[in-house]
Amino acid sequence: MIAIRPETAGDHGAIEHVTRTAFGGEDEVRLIERLRADGLVIASLVAVEDATIRGHILMSRLDVRTPSGRIPAAALAPMAVAPAHQRRGIGSQLVTAAVAACRDAGTDLIVVLGHPDFYPRFGFSPILARRLKAPFSGPAFMARALKPGILDGETATVRYPDAFGLTNRERPEPYSAAAPRAGS
Ligand SMILES: CC(C)(COP(=O)(O)OP(=O)(O)OC[C@H]1O[C@@H](n2cnc3c(N)ncnc32)[C@H](O)[C@@H]1OP(=O)(O)O)[C@@H](O)C(=O)NCCC(=O)NCCS
Repeated sequence: MIAIRPETAGDHGAIEHVTRTAFGGEDEVRLIERLRADGLVIASLVAVEDATIRGHILMSRLDVRTPSGRIPAAALAPMAVAPAHQRRGIGSQLVTAAVAACRDAGTDLIVVLGHPDFYPRFGFSPILARRLKAPFSGPAFMARALKPGILDGETATVRYPDAFGLTNRERPEPYSAAAPRAGS
């Protein structure tokens, strides 16, 4: 039986382990640390079974602006399930709970860069994400509106926080960079 709950300080080591083994590197471990340190975490949830952390998901505050104002938005990243426990539905439970936590926190839009065959089943859409001026594009860049119509008639600009270590190429001229964009 899997239980989903918010992380506690005592979970940090186990979250690190799951993230490192799922991704096979340190980048996502560092991302989690930076998002925590920068106070950007909206929700950080763990999936627990037999008193062991099997999975983790983090939702963080994201700067999304339209000409008419700011949209309360979240980035879904990173998410990891221990390799031996993947494809058991744990990731799906984590996404569902994390989306609910964002909704409770007043988030109107969630953005993810991830597996194009996984996130659409939770309502994430690469077509909706085309309305976003962001450092990413293509089928892996997806968005889900928690407030219906939040991007209707709007083009919004996404600025990832420094924690992601990205160049926010939408400034000052969106899409003006000569380099191809990720996923395109
Ligand atoms: C992606 C991940 C979080 C999914 O967790 P999970 O518990 O296996 O997910 P679920 O069991 O709920 O759902 C399974 C679905 O996940 C997707 N999935 C799982 N592993 C995958 C992989 N290695 N590559 C692509 N898709 C994968 C598939 O769409 C799969 O659906 P299917 O079984 O119908 O083919 C997990 O595989 C993982 O930690 N992967 C390594 C790290 C990673 O890629 N994180 C996400 C970055 S966006």
